[in-house]
Amino acid sequence: MKGDIGVIGLAVMGQNLILNMNDHGYKVVAHNRTAEKVDEFLQGPAKGTNIVGAYSLQELVDKLESPRKIMLMVRAGDVVDSFIDKLVPLLDKGDIIIDGGNTNFPDTNRRVATLKEKGIHFIGSGVSGGEEGARFGPSIMPGGSPEAWPFVKPIFQAISAKTENNEPCCDWVGNDGAGHFVKMVHNGIEYGDMQLITEAYQFMKDGLGMTHDEMQSVFIEWNKTELNSYLVEITSDILGYKDTDGEPLVEKILDTAGQKGTGKWTGINALDMGIPLTLITESVFARCLSSLKDQRVEAEELFGKKESIVEGDKQVWIEALRQALLASKIISYAQGFMLMREASNENGWDLNYGNVALMWRGGCIIRSAFLSNIRDAYDIDPELSFLGSDSYFKGILENSMSAWRKVAAKSMEVGIPMPSMTSALTFLDGYTTARLPANLLQAQRDYFGAHTYERVDKPKGEFFHTNWTGKGGDVSSTTYNS
Ligand code: 6PG
Repeated sequence: MKGDIGVIGLAVMGQNLILNMNDHGYKVVAHNRTAEKVDEFLQGPAKGTNIVGAYSLQELVDKLESPRKIMLMVRAGDVVDSFIDKLVPLLDKGDIIIDGGNTNFPDTNRRVATLKEKGIHFIGSGVSGGEEGARFGPSIMPGGSPEAWPFVKPIFQAISAKTENNEPCCDWVGNDGAGHFVKMVHNGIEYGDMQLITEAYQFMKDGLGMTHDEMQSVFIEWNKTELNSYLVEITSDILGYKDTDGEPLVEKILDTAGQKGTGKWTGINALDMGIPLTLITESVFARCLSSLKDQRVEAEELFGKKESIVEGDKQVWIEALRQALLASKIISYAQGFMLMREASNENGWDLNYGNVALMWRGGCIIRSAFLSNIRDAYDIDPELSFLGSDSYFKGILENSMSAWRKVAAKSMEVGIPMPSMTSALTFLDGYTTARLPANLLQAQRDYFGAHTYERVDKPKGEFFHTNWTGKGGDVSSTTYNS
């Protein structure tokens, strides 16, 4: 009997996905560039299963049922192209290559198009959930050649996480690089969620002077509220974790954040498309600032250490912080969905936002109860332009407003940096202001560069130039917008 699917790449994600597929009754053919890895896997975790090995790409191809489905679980970038180049001559028309790595979506756009010319279908799929997710149920976000989906669907939906109603956290996302795009936004949101949690932690630790056990209890309690999520849950575990000397391990960890680039791509994409994705972008910059450790240490010495004590009833502050965190999170998701909406319109992907929320409901790093509410919001209005306008989320934003402002103002007053929580509030203030000061900005542009402006008392699309000083000419510059 031939194999149902081949997987190339036996690092942690690859191995766990294969074992997961095997658990669901699929016969998987496993290949790795180094043969020893195949042997180690077959004699180790795959022992006693139906998994078979392939020591060359030809052997892999020969051992697979047609149309062949070959999933690459290798490092994103050139390695993917190099495997594709080697595989294509061995494949038949109609065979399917799947890239399950964290690929930047323009690469997937390109691969779908070039492989289409050769008659090979290509799927670029986000896979989230880390090692455990891959093993027992990840969130899977496939996009690319739609013709390939019916062949891959049963396998992917079987191995994916399931919601509380047993719906698979995996569905077809859209054409081209849509799957990897949605995974990129997932990761951007992950950056935002993590940053928001760390801001709350710093407020509690430095502002309220709380111990780690107290903070752990707060996160345990928060996890029973609308904030219920994987990231809040692991934060409570981390805060309670003691090093061998009995002290909290988290305080021994160097405060410089790493990043592999997916958050940055999200920010770059938002800038490219002109979407105010402020919270995620602040979260990326917060990681960048954290990495300037030596400069920060010097600057603290130069400017003096801040005493950031927050006075007042601790319980009241903790509840205010919870509300600020929840409201900021709504803004983060609202901005993320705005970005997806713009990308969907620009690329003709026809993204189904309710389905995206469903795919993120379980298995992935940002999984949370909250995503069910997002799904409901898009069920009510599939074209919702701002998540905060949905009545459920609007209610939370309104109810949290005063606490959110109090936390933001206090953080500014005592000098606790909370870039994501405060920028989220600033965004909402801007978004809910019918008239912003951009009129003055337009006047400045016209003053120094004759860039022209539109008038509130004339139809849109009619452009005016004023000779502000009486010295300039009447010639105006062109009016294009990037
Ligand atoms: C996931 C994660 C994963 C990502 C890590 C690390 O969905 O399982 O998003 O894909 O690689 O979270 O990302 P950073 O190194 O950029 O923090």
